Amino acid sequence: MAVTRTFSIIKPDATRRNLTGAVTKMLEEAGLRVVASKRIHMSREQAEGFYAVHKERPFFGELVDFMISGPVVVQVLEGENAMQRNRDIMGATNPANAEPGTIRKELAESIEANTVHGSDSDENAAIEIAYFFKPEEIVG
Ligand code: TYD
Repeated sequence: MAVTRTFSIIKPDATRRNLTGAVTKMLEEAGLRVVASKRIHMSREQAEGFYAVHKERPFFGELVDFMISGPVVVQVLEGENAMQRNRDIMGATNPANAEPGTIRKELAESIEANTVHGSDSDENAAIEIAYFFKPEEIVG
């Protein structure tokens, strides 16, 4: 299995509850390595651009409001089949439907305040990494 990279966000509900370390520990224990990381407070324009794919969905406005409600930690994760590995440890979008042991089941508050974002394809991972990181900020 190839070593690949994916993109992750530790969302404002997690930074507010001081869970950056707890989330990162679960990622690391799942076999992912943090090869880039920075804490930022997204602007509205930045969040709208990031979630442009969802702009026709009914939850778009609330999602953007939530994502700019506090700081987030954007990360590049590396590992074997990183995108799928990260999706597996994240768990289902709605924590009520997530498997025990996943980040969302153990830590998330609601379908909106669901603690983590993770790219859903290798193609989107490359786009999302480039949205937040310069190549020299990623140190494998
Ligand atoms: P989505 O890409 O469907 O889920 P995932 O994060 O698991 O890839 O949705 C993006 C985010 O939008 C999701 O993490 C939380 C938010 N969202 C809502 O607030 N309400 C909803 O009904 C859905 C489907 C998503």
